[in-house]
Amino acid sequence: MFRSRHFVIALLLCALGVLPARAADPVRGQELFLQHCMSCHAPGRPMPGAPDFTRGQTLFQPDGVLLEKIRDGAEAMPGYRGVLDNTMILDLIAYLRTLQ
Ligand code: HEC
Repeated sequence: MFRSRHFVIALLLCALGVLPARAADPVRGQELFLQHCMSCHAPGRPMPGAPDFTRGQTLFQPDGVLLEKIRDGAEAMPGYRGVLDNTMILDLIAYLRTLQ
């Protein structure tokens, strides 16, 4: 009885958006990376001009800033607006942070 009451409260908080429904998933992010990003950002040997996520300062930026850059693109970096939604991009960023 005690447990189920807690469950109902947690469910209500989720419904109200107080608790996040889901944390970023780096495993899903890796799948997306292999599909969309690997060709230019191969860890340890990226194409010339593209950042290598295993080193350097590219990831010394908040998730929100990286999200905008991935969504909008820059120079030779294609934008992924309409291809990847914000949840997918946050999964990707969670994966990039495992490479560092
Ligand atoms: C066609 C090659 C290409 C693909 C595909 C690509 N990128 Fe890039 N990316 C680049 C290049 C080149 C840059 C450097 C752009 C610049 O000069 O500002 C870059 C920059 C970045 C940056 C750094 C932005 C900054 O300035 O801080 C991030 C983060 C990034 N890419 C993430 C991704 C992710 C995630 C994907 C897959 C969804 C992806 N890229 C796919 C070429 C690519």
